[in-house]
Amino acid sequence: MGLNITEKIISSHLITGKMEPGSEIGLKIDQTLTQDATGTMAYLQFEAMGIAKVQTELSVSYVDHNTLQMGFRNPDDHQYLRTVAAKYGVVFSPAGTGICHQLHLENFAKPGATLIGSDSHTPTAGGLGSLAMGAGGLSVALAMAGQPYSIPMPKVVKVELTGKLTGWATAKDIILHLLGLLTVKGGVGKVFEFGGKGVETLTVPERAVITNMGAELGATTSLFPSDKQTEKFLKAMGREEDFSELIADADATYSDTVVINLSELEPLVAQPHMPDRVVSVKSLAGLKVSQSAIGSCTNSSYSDLKTTVLILKDNQLPQGVDLMISPGSKQVLKMLASEGLIGPLLDSGARLLECTCGPCIGMGGSPVSAGVSVRTFNRNFEGRSGTQDAKVYLASPQTAAKLALAGEFTDPATWGTPPEKIEFPAEIPSIRHLFIFPPENDEKVEIVRGPNIIPLESFSALPEIITSEVRLKVGDDITTDHILPAGAQITALRSNIPAISEYIFSRVDENFVSRMKNSDNGIILGGENYGQGSSREHAALGPRHLGVVAVIVKSLARIHRANLINFGILPLVLSNKSDYDKLSEGSGLSLETTSLTPGGVAEMTTTDGLKIKVENDLSEKELAIILAGGLLNYVGRK
Ligand code: F3S
Repeated sequence: MGLNITEKIISSHLITGKMEPGSEIGLKIDQTLTQDATGTMAYLQFEAMGIAKVQTELSVSYVDHNTLQMGFRNPDDHQYLRTVAAKYGVVFSPAGTGICHQLHLENFAKPGATLIGSDSHTPTAGGLGSLAMGAGGLSVALAMAGQPYSIPMPKVVKVELTGKLTGWATAKDIILHLLGLLTVKGGVGKVFEFGGKGVETLTVPERAVITNMGAELGATTSLFPSDKQTEKFLKAMGREEDFSELIADADATYSDTVVINLSELEPLVAQPHMPDRVVSVKSLAGLKVSQSAIGSCTNSSYSDLKTTVLILKDNQLPQGVDLMISPGSKQVLKMLASEGLIGPLLDSGARLLECTCGPCIGMGGSPVSAGVSVRTFNRNFEGRSGTQDAKVYLASPQTAAKLALAGEFTDPATWGTPPEKIEFPAEIPSIRHLFIFPPENDEKVEIVRGPNIIPLESFSALPEIITSEVRLKVGDDITTDHILPAGAQITALRSNIPAISEYIFSRVDENFVSRMKNSDNGIILGGENYGQGSSREHAALGPRHLGVVAVIVKSLARIHRANLINFGILPLVLSNKSDYDKLSEGSGLSLETTSLTPGGVAEMTTTDGLKIKVENDLSEKELAIILAGGLLNYVGRK
């Protein structure tokens, strides 16, 4: 029987396990990437393993999140990242060079390669045929140490694209449509593999928009074939030698198929505060807009921004509407500049920001109170923009630019003729010299640690009997932003666990931290899809620092589950969801950890004698990791 693309990549990288959906597999990882907000911790963890050099073919450390150097913390982190990269053989991308996923796509991603990154939008590289997955920083550190990356063998869903995009519909509308169809829980345990005639009509930057935001489906990853479009892209980037064809066999099989007719799509938006609350742009006609933001790792390519400028050209923003544009890389910015497109952009009244994540991670650009902000980003969780009561809508660059100019939602039927599809300019400037490649001789390299780089904490193994209390009860769809908010002040503390832990659940319950500090340990009780959102391991590390020993939920998001395991927190699922209502904050619970078995059911007892059944989907290894007090204890610190 033939293989699909996912199976082809997995089978050529399989170290342990069988390719049967759900069973644990260990994969050889070719490439890793980190960004600064998760990277400092990942490199501290790598250092703790005592390995002389990274063992991957390529590892890159990007600085794109905390680029506002207000005070010593962020520059100290960047200095540590630069020097630790030089010491251990990692390529370093300085602040302002660009957003990790855009840069990786342009410069390093390869068809058929495996890539894990300590950022949940690592699947962006699936746009040119990499098997690219978001992971916790510790998993990335282990991959850099040469260890296989363990995941449950995913189911592979085919997304069959037919037809061709028309009018104002874009690649963003394809993924928004899929999110509306399948919801933010629809991809758990799955890889979305794109195929069909419609695929041929999409360029690599368009494909990368789709694989990027596939992360919002909760998917393991998404990927496209490597074909003529891929070859064209790699050639344009001066990397023709990295091309190899990678397509599914004609008789490949899939666990499921979703068909999307591109010709039927229209401009869409995701409404506040979830990426799957998708409706048509025209259905919101009349809603006033106070801000638009174009950029982020989803929509900051040359074609996205040139299209934006062509829409803005010879127009001016209405008073009171703020439009921010962040190019995905200096290469994108240089291409725009060399074609004389910066002038028209500035003349429209738009603001040109640095080539970084910027407003996407709350580094400036917050909307006005109760403002409506139309953003080309991938997430619109409540408060992520930095303004708690702002309403963030997710849309394509075309839609964001049009609505900013109008100052309100309008019907795309009134927008006139859309700009033609943009590919690449004849000459593409290189920015390769801006990356800092590790020196041949690292003996003279000294790792510099400023006061913001705090040594790793050691955690003890789990006791045989856990006696604890529910210290916080939360509802469904709790995101990692709820657990640990983003924003300049907080993300600057990513290398300082005691300090950042002060913000755990700070926007959900301001007394949570003090309750934890006044007790030996604690349990968090959650609803469906607990921990969805980013890969930030601090959302597990912070609670662990405060003494959280278990989360008991109705269901759990993939990367957060992995992070909980890595830091020795038990991820337990209620066997009977109705038991959620029987427990409240302050409920006492005990559990014999010796009664836990991989994939088994255990019984917890409340202080008033109620029996609560909890399940786990842990493998033998994962359970051993948790009982040892986390992955670093399990693999052994040096
Ligand atoms: Fe950065 Fe936002 Fe992407 S924080 S990596 S641009 S999701």
